[in-house]
Amino acid sequence: MSRDDLKGAGGAVRGAATRTAGGWNTASWRRRPAAQQPAWPDEEALKRAEAHLSTLPPLVVAGEARMLTSSLADVAQGRAFLLQAGDCAESFGDFSADAIRDKLRVILQMAVALTYAAGVPIVKVGRIAGQFAKPRSSPTERIGDLELDTFRGHMVNDEAFEADARRPDPARLIAAYHQAASTLNLLRAFTKGGFADLSHVHAWNQQFVASSAEGRRYETIANEIDRALRFMAACGIDLNAEGGLHQVDFWTSHEALILNYEEALTRQDSLTGDWVDCSAHLLWVGERTRQVDGAHVEFLSGVINPLAAKIGPSATPDEVVGLCDRLDPERTPGRLTLITRFGAGNVERLLPTLLDAVRESGHPVVWACDPMHGNTFTSEGGRKTRRFDDIMSELRDFFAVHRARGTWPGGVHVELTGDDVTECLGGAEEIFEDDLSQRYTTTCDPRLNARQSLDLAFRVAELLRS
Ligand code: PEP
Ligand code: CO
Repeated sequence: MSRDDLKGAGGAVRGAATRTAGGWNTASWRRRPAAQQPAWPDEEALKRAEAHLSTLPPLVVAGEARMLTSSLADVAQGRAFLLQAGDCAESFGDFSADAIRDKLRVILQMAVALTYAAGVPIVKVGRIAGQFAKPRSSPTERIGDLELDTFRGHMVNDEAFEADARRPDPARLIAAYHQAASTLNLLRAFTKGGFADLSHVHAWNQQFVASSAEGRRYETIANEIDRALRFMAACGIDLNAEGGLHQVDFWTSHEALILNYEEALTRQDSLTGDWVDCSAHLLWVGERTRQVDGAHVEFLSGVINPLAAKIGPSATPDEVVGLCDRLDPERTPGRLTLITRFGAGNVERLLPTLLDAVRESGHPVVWACDPMHGNTFTSEGGRKTRRFDDIMSELRDFFAVHRARGTWPGGVHVELTGDDVTECLGGAEEIFEDDLSQRYTTTCDPRLNARQSLDLAFRVAELLRS
């Protein structure tokens, strides 16, 4: 990336006044219905926060967004696999270097298991460094006589059931930016500065994982990788010169939900005139905000970042093709990922017609499977949870339908944490309903813990290979 490019992406060029062909500008979403937006009680404070955000440095730059698009083009063409993973909602409270490291560790472990067992390059994308806003099924929550705004993620308000905590506060937009910036900084340091070096492959196996069956299986692969590295060195290959052994590309993503935040971080690349949402490398539109004529799709249609859209069971083939036409009019491989999240038992019924319609339309999308959001239920003890078996069942059907149709099952999208939590049921270590309250710490949806995540990666690797 040239200095000019950096200057352009980093400059405080704001888009509201700058029109581009087709009438899009960074604020054109404001003329459309925007679902899932908080009722900010103080308009002036919101404007001040937006103005402040628009002066802050970009978190990512145009060249990075283009590199990720190019890696995703490999996925679209069946030459690579996408692993997108992280928290359901990042938290202002649970924010530490250790938590970031442990999340990265488990994603690196999963990528090793997938690469080694399935022999395909893995494009690694975190739900991280910006995943602070949540769509909700109801705008308010009532307990007894008290009705308050629903919790919408730490970018908006706090989960405590108190009037002050639930009031949307624009200062949180700035706080989210700063937490995203320091998270991304540490991720860049870890992935480029030694931690992700393949010679540390053993160190990614955390203690509570190493003692499990999947941890031991991982250790076997790690030993084989060590041997392969020693073999290459003995053959006279200069391992130090092989950048791919020492650094990994790790990309950030979040749901582009709070459009005031996304608009304020959207900047123009001075070299090309392209608009880039500099809040993350990849942005996605959620199941509840993917209306073709809605504000979210309007906003995303104008930025050059790679995009994704969640596709739930109610999506019709026409809707999905309409979304492709709006978000990927040029039919660019890597531009658009469709993430299906139908729920176990629904894939064979719903996926084939979508695959046919999208193929017919000529959009070279990446197909990924989110086996989490269609499989959430409330346990008898009142905890939101998911069964590992349902998650695997949805994934198996996703692979089977793609195989039968001759399309590439391009990726998985999962909610996980590096911690030893008890939020999802089952898995090799068998978490039961009674165990859920032991270590249930998510701010929103239940996540796979590190063992369940590694277990899932091994099983997905088998599906990929078969
Ligand atoms: C999510 O990814 O956390 C989410 C809310 O997903 P969906 O839009 O698919 O419901
Ligand atoms: Co979620």
